Amino acid sequence: MNPYLLMVVLYLSLAVLGALEASFASLRILPWFNGMKWLRVHLITLGTLTQIIFWLMPILAAIRAKLPRPKLRWDIWLTLNGGILLLLIGIPLVNFVPIFAGSTLVFTATTLLIVQLSKMRAASSVSSQAGAGRKFYIAGLSYFLVGIIVGAGLFFNWAEPLLISVPLEVHIHANNWGLLSLVFAGLLIDLYPTWAKRPLASPNSVNAIFWMMTVGAFGLIFGPWFAATWLLLVPGLLLHLSATIWLLVNIIKPLQGDREAWTPGMLHLVTSYFWILAPVLVAPLVLFKVPGFPGRGIEATAPQALIYGWVLQFGYASIPYFFRRVFLPDETPKLGGSRLSLITVHLGGFLLWASIFAEGAMRGTLHGSAYLMWTLSLLPIVKELWQIVRAGLEHAESETASLILMEN
Ligand code: HEM
Repeated sequence: MNPYLLMVVLYLSLAVLGALEASFASLRILPWFNGMKWLRVHLITLGTLTQIIFWLMPILAAIRAKLPRPKLRWDIWLTLNGGILLLLIGIPLVNFVPIFAGSTLVFTATTLLIVQLSKMRAASSVSSQAGAGRKFYIAGLSYFLVGIIVGAGLFFNWAEPLLISVPLEVHIHANNWGLLSLVFAGLLIDLYPTWAKRPLASPNSVNAIFWMMTVGAFGLIFGPWFAATWLLLVPGLLLHLSATIWLLVNIIKPLQGDREAWTPGMLHLVTSYFWILAPVLVAPLVLFKVPGFPGRGIEATAPQALIYGWVLQFGYASIPYFFRRVFLPDETPKLGGSRLSLITVHLGGFLLWASIFAEGAMRGTLHGSAYLMWTLSLLPIVKELWQIVRAGLEHAESETASLILMEN
């Protein structure tokens, strides 16, 4: 049983409870629930997604570089999960010792993975494009190191000595425009040919997309760090946005006119990007303080739609695919998701954004309904994963049983 995938099923199952709890709290069904925002965001980001990407990146880098499959690094798994566990204990209790120890362990796991990936250079005979995803992974993980320092620093008041103007924004940008944008782009570049059974529209654009997204993320992180909106944040945003759109064109164009290719899984992958673009489309209205656009409300609430609408939804398509590859290797793997998960995850996003502009009780109703939709969208995915795991384990058990019978 792969230890990373075991943790994915655990955290994703808990994420269902987290979303349900948020819904009941906002719908005032269980008003005394205090809605642990940190927990429900990080069960998905730090819990579920980091497990999948930490497991996958060395394997993909090795395949693309035509290197032998790397052994599972228990030191990385242990430091990552030991760190997450300590954070899950320390942050709800606001206890500095486990928060510091937990952040340090996650930082160590990330550094060990960067070193492992940096050593996985392709032999000179392998085309540079083959290993393109690796540089996206290393750049993304490097920004994650910044995200961890600033995230932990939110408890230790490191913002002042580090001269950080808006630490929470720096943390969110480092982990979403840095870590996940770059890693998801790397995964799409490495796996789209397998998922879509055709090449990207312009494979030669990969290098330009890499540098635009990496430099763009730098501007998006250090803009709010040094309060340099026009010098860093806005140019960074434009660069990153152009790179993201160029990446999307690369994966949409080859599918045009091919109805069969637009499975729920492919729709999850492509339409999830609407929720990382939504805050960008609204940003100028907030920046220029256009009346009717509550800047504070958007900054406080929009990250939730980013995590559920983009990060989680990308996982809806990709996580079941990897589970099938591992647990049901004799079957043709397909991307995850269904019509139900597709409709409800987007409904959740629109309801959450509508709650930002609503007043009074309506705000709670819309916010609670959004989380109810996200809970509904999670259920078929968690069910799909448990079915894959059970079928895979039953298959393995029957294989072992027949082996034992043969030996006797
Ligand atoms: C060691 C790792 C991490 C630590 C210590 C950490 C810490 C924090 C803290 C203290 C907050 C503020 C919570 C609040 O305002 O109540 C926060 C918010 C947030 N973090 Fe992290 N975080 C970590 C990893 C991540 C990762 C990997 C991601 C995403 C990829 C992420 C995304 C976010 C987002 C989106 C928010 C804003 C939540 C909201 O306001 O709705 N964090 N984090």
